[in-house]
Amino acid sequence: MPPYLIGIDVGTTGSKAVLIDADGTVKASVTNEYPMYTPYPAWAEQDPDDWWTATIASIRQAMERAEVSPNHVAGIGLTGQMHGLVALDAQGKVLRRCIMWNDQRTAPQCAAITKQVGIQNLLRWTGNPVLPGFTAPKILWVRENEPEVYRRIATVLLPKDYVRYRLTGGFFSDVSDASGTSLFDVGKRCWSEDMLKALNIPREWLPEVTESPVVSARVSPEAAHLTGLLEGTPVVGGGGDNAAANVGVGVIREGIVSVSLGTSGVVFAASDTYRVEPEGKLHAFCHAVPGMWHLMGVMLSAAGSFRWFRDALGDTEQAQAAETGRDVYDILTEKAAQVPAGCEGLLFLPYLTGERTPYPDPDARGVFFGLSLRHRKPHLTRAVLEGVSYGLRDSLELMKNLNLPIQQVIALGGGARSALWRQILADVFNIGLATVNVTEGAPFGAALLASVGAGVYKDVATACDAVVRISGETAAGPAAQVYAAYYPRYRALYVALAGEFKALAEVVARYTQ
Ligand code: XUL
Repeated sequence: MPPYLIGIDVGTTGSKAVLIDADGTVKASVTNEYPMYTPYPAWAEQDPDDWWTATIASIRQAMERAEVSPNHVAGIGLTGQMHGLVALDAQGKVLRRCIMWNDQRTAPQCAAITKQVGIQNLLRWTGNPVLPGFTAPKILWVRENEPEVYRRIATVLLPKDYVRYRLTGGFFSDVSDASGTSLFDVGKRCWSEDMLKALNIPREWLPEVTESPVVSARVSPEAAHLTGLLEGTPVVGGGGDNAAANVGVGVIREGIVSVSLGTSGVVFAASDTYRVEPEGKLHAFCHAVPGMWHLMGVMLSAAGSFRWFRDALGDTEQAQAAETGRDVYDILTEKAAQVPAGCEGLLFLPYLTGERTPYPDPDARGVFFGLSLRHRKPHLTRAVLEGVSYGLRDSLELMKNLNLPIQQVIALGGGARSALWRQILADVFNIGLATVNVTEGAPFGAALLASVGAGVYKDVATACDAVVRISGETAAGPAAQVYAAYYPRYRALYVALAGEFKALAEVVARYTQ
């Protein structure tokens, strides 16, 4: 039934358009992919024109597949990869490829900013330390390394906001995405004059910022021609991918937390007040819900650890899967379910690609600890699932330390499809887990934000209450007691090994090309 809404996610691998009706029923979901360039090992770049070309295709195909006429599309919501730097000249032309969120080249700029500004000022002005993924150090990198480009910059945009520019001709961002730039006063929900001054970045380069469900601009005649949308269709502020994804699953009230078991793991909590972890260990960003904030912990290898295990040690199970047509992860977890909680003393540290929360340490590495003659492959499998769960509990503990109430935890992501992993997570957290009926992720949340801007729902909470439903629950069981005893041992391991990770990295660097 009309009206329909479209959410667009300018993601890391492609642009996804999700078209829904006002009840939240997904009518079409289309992704068009684009490449990522890594000219040097730690670099990650994309061509903003590729995002736009893919987005045009995704919008067109979504309307075609859903058989929805453009005059029934009441609004568009944008979401996407956060933190990326898109630099435009005075004519609105892209000056260089986007430096993306996962690009690691700016460690020296981060160190210089932290030294110059001081960690306490950074936390006071922006709510967060400066991390290599964030936008401000990327601007400084261009200043230092590409002065010809820097000299011509007139506008700086985030990835989804570049697509908005092509769609509407307007320069806008939203509070949740702007929070990840290191230039935004997250507490006051506006650009930080202090940071801009300290880094000598002109305010005129930055777009106007709106709240996420507010209409910021409208589809231009040119973009209407290209996409098939109607000229004047409203485009709301939208949100960074995590904020939008969490709107999409109803994490919009204090007390609700989500845990996402994707390649990386994210613990995300909605908060009524602006809270900053005293050492900046949790990201403190504006939520896509007006007047709310969110706290976020990011584990770099969550389901990614399990995939590594499958690839490194799961040959037999992969062969079985090929033979029987069963899922290889089901075969692995079936055997792991026979092993007692705690794996008879075997612990796994999931730092295969370094870590972000709670230890921002690129040198940290994976560890199996406590191996004995009793241990077999199912023990190792289960230890991986438990280790990732302990690591995610670290983020939850940081949130509890800020007196954030935790009443409901929603499990998301591919890993949450495993009943065993959900049970382990519920037991490690010692709190029940819920699953919800929404599986489309961030673009679904962006479409809900558009439904508010288009006047279909009066606010984000009403939209979420109308469409998001709890679809399953996993209660904490008796193993919670066992995990309560093992968790402090897990915690102690990183502390004991931190110096050794660094020393090992130095040796590896010496002997690896
Ligand atoms: C959030 C973050 C990622 C990116 C890409 O801080 O780095 O979630 O937004 O998805």
